[in-house]
Amino acid sequence: MNKSLPSEPIEPDDPERRQFLEKTVSIVLGGAMVSVPVGAGIATLLAPLSSDKGGSLKIRLASIEDLPSDGTPKLYQIVAEKKDAWTKYPNKPIGSVFLRRIGESKVVAFSSSCPHAGCSVDIDSDGSAFFCPCHASSFDFDGITQGKSVSPRGLDALEVDPDLLVKGEVWVTFVKFKAGVADKVEV
Ligand code: FES
Repeated sequence: MNKSLPSEPIEPDDPERRQFLEKTVSIVLGGAMVSVPVGAGIATLLAPLSSDKGGSLKIRLASIEDLPSDGTPKLYQIVAEKKDAWTKYPNKPIGSVFLRRIGESKVVAFSSSCPHAGCSVDIDSDGSAFFCPCHASSFDFDGITQGKSVSPRGLDALEVDPDLLVKGEVWVTFVKFKAGVADKVEV
């Protein structure tokens, strides 16, 4: 699935982040398919990322009409081009995001990284909840832990830009959070 290039830049809010963003020049969006959990679609976004050290990345993941209106989560993998002084590492997965459309115009986003220890969360076999296969944590589709989950918090919600959502575009601020703690802390 090919997608158009993001039309708006990421909004830097500090010098370090600005520097980080200045390095992220060439953006390519592509559609490499990977295995998907039951009930989830997937699209792959290829975006440049010069570092794994912190920072956030505001990215367009979908149009609202790409998302099922029945609330079924759809998984978007984020693949970055990582560079250091000598080497370019293309297509390095840096995470993935579940998008859920609720009703006609609301969209919620969750990082698929389990807050317990960072494993990738799937959708369970009957398609009724998020499930982490590593230590059997379970989360309802609102991201809240359920049952005897060992995860110290629910799935990490990510910001969806409300102004662009009104225009039908789903832009998400991708952030990584610390695993194993009760509070949602950026890393
Ligand atoms: S990493 Fe998900 S439950 Fe342990």
